[in-house]
Amino acid sequence: MPNFKKIKFKVFGDRRGKLISLEAMRNVPFEIKRVYYIFDTKEDVDRGNHSHPKLNQIVVCLSGSCKFYLEDKCSRKTLKLNKPSDGLFIGKDVWRRMFDFSSDCVLMVLADDYYIEEEYNRDYKKFKLLKK
Ligand code: TYD
Repeated sequence: MPNFKKIKFKVFGDRRGKLISLEAMRNVPFEIKRVYYIFDTKEDVDRGNHSHPKLNQIVVCLSGSCKFYLEDKCSRKTLKLNKPSDGLFIGKDVWRRMFDFSSDCVLMVLADDYYIEEEYNRDYKKFKLLKK
């Protein structure tokens, strides 16, 4: 089983509009320690290009769209995020690259730990070796 997957969030919609609620250990499968968001991304740029040995994250595209290239021990996939009702779970040891950002793209990320630079693997060759 890949260590990444799309999750559909329940949408509370009525005549006024829509609402989605994210709750730790309920529809988010971990305790949330950090939230960050990526916006105002320039055309033709790549972001990400790393894996994490321990971190679990859920990414939600709140506005616009972007694509993800994901790779782990057993699989690789490119997918597009363009709905606030879709979450993308990315577990440990998954290489991710984000690209094709629309100019209005806002990516919100929930994480189960604080920002720790030592907890980043930014070396794709090392990632490939770890996969073996
Ligand atoms: P970076 O890891 O390069 O972003 P991406 O993975 O999207 O390409 O992060 C950009 C900058 O923001 C870098 O200086 C580290 C800092 N940063 C934090 O301080 N806290 C965080 O939670 C994150 C994700 C990044």
